[in-house]
Amino acid sequence: MDRIRIKGGRQLKGDIRISGAKNAALPLMVSAMLSDRPLTLHNVPRLADITTMIQLLTQHGVEVSAVAGENGHAHGTTLVLKAGKITSTTAPYDIVRKMRASVLVLGVLLAREGQAKVSLPGGCAIGARPVDLHIAGLRAMGAEIDIDGGYLVARAPKGLRGARYTFPKVSVGATENLMIAAALAKGTTVLDNAAREPEITNLAECLAAMGVTVGGIGTETLTIEGGGALKAATHSVIPDRIETGTYAMAVAMTAGDVELVGGRLDLIETAAQTLRSAGVTLESTARGLRVQRTNGALHGVDVMTEPYPGFPTDLQAQMMALMTRAEGASMITETIFESRFMHVPELARMGANVTIHHESALVRGVPKLRGADVMATDLRASVSLAIAGLVAEGDTTLHRVYHLDRGFERLEEKLAACGADIERLKG
Ligand code: UD1
Repeated sequence: MDRIRIKGGRQLKGDIRISGAKNAALPLMVSAMLSDRPLTLHNVPRLADITTMIQLLTQHGVEVSAVAGENGHAHGTTLVLKAGKITSTTAPYDIVRKMRASVLVLGVLLAREGQAKVSLPGGCAIGARPVDLHIAGLRAMGAEIDIDGGYLVARAPKGLRGARYTFPKVSVGATENLMIAAALAKGTTVLDNAAREPEITNLAECLAAMGVTVGGIGTETLTIEGGGALKAATHSVIPDRIETGTYAMAVAMTAGDVELVGGRLDLIETAAQTLRSAGVTLESTARGLRVQRTNGALHGVDVMTEPYPGFPTDLQAQMMALMTRAEGASMITETIFESRFMHVPELARMGANVTIHHESALVRGVPKLRGADVMATDLRASVSLAIAGLVAEGDTTLHRVYHLDRGFERLEEKLAACGADIERLKG
């Protein structure tokens, strides 16, 4: 298994190109299954999770072709997806266990084929992560769903019909599943208390480009007129706001000065405000945004994760890494996922001072971190250890890098190009 070795102490300076958002690309790829017309997606990142989704869609009968880097997306990939015929309505355990977002095929298979058998998902080991909201929403649209042998077995013999569904809790994945299903359901679907993440807006705009009428885009009430004819469409994946925020935190950690090319400050507004309070400068540029911490210390700031537009849970671990070196204390509260503090014992191995009280972690800044062998436990936790390694004295070796590869494209190359002493150790 690959490892990443980092020698701390270098400031980050230069440019980093931000990739397309994994979490936007995955549901967009699934929406290609809505019709037999091709969907062309630009700016798709090259990541293990995208490869897993290609595998999943291919075994459902989707033809996927990839064209590397064109249309100005030097590091993006254009995918053309064509679901002429669905050849299998089963999403097998072997693929779904690798990536939780696989459950997104449930709605589209039901809507198009009237049946689906989808393995219960695995994915990051952060809390229980049930799929009850996906199930309840699809049931409201007329689906019959049972669990049998670790699979969700779903049927909609008369097809899905539009319905009004109010999410009891905000869920990104369940909102996406229902939006995609609603595009083929007969009649109008109204989703209340829907997620408002930029990835949802990106999906809504793609559905609109395919010929679906979607109202309330960007609000917590989405209205989708289903059952109309769909057409071929071309759409671009938005820049990855989690990658943007992660590099902003890495730059802040090293007191560096980097332009995040292709990034969008408006997608990370809350995180940017938090970073500003901590003493970091962020400003929009013609090419993206610039992050600097050139004068002064980092200050401890409190953070609470919330659904968008709140502080994203996917940046919590990285923010904690940053706060380990701040002056003063920082209270970091995780409200979205239970068990999302698995990076804490690893940060502690590097000398961080963190105490967990239920869903909050009290981080007391320390004057220095020391390099250590550390273990990646999930996607976002792993990158927080890399951020800590950038300023730790001596070598940090990050094990189980496959977690990182699920969501960060060429991390070591991007950081090395800005001056970090970082390398991937193969095998
Ligand atoms: C998506 C993101 C993930 C991010 C998360 C929250 C993708 C591929 N992944 O995950 O990176 O951390 O949003 O921003 O886009 N829940 C239920 N029942 C359900 C579904 C969810 O109780 O049926 C709970 C979850 O356990 C969690 C909360 O709702 O506590 C939010 O989860 P959700 O927004 O659904 O996350 P994902 O879509 O899985």
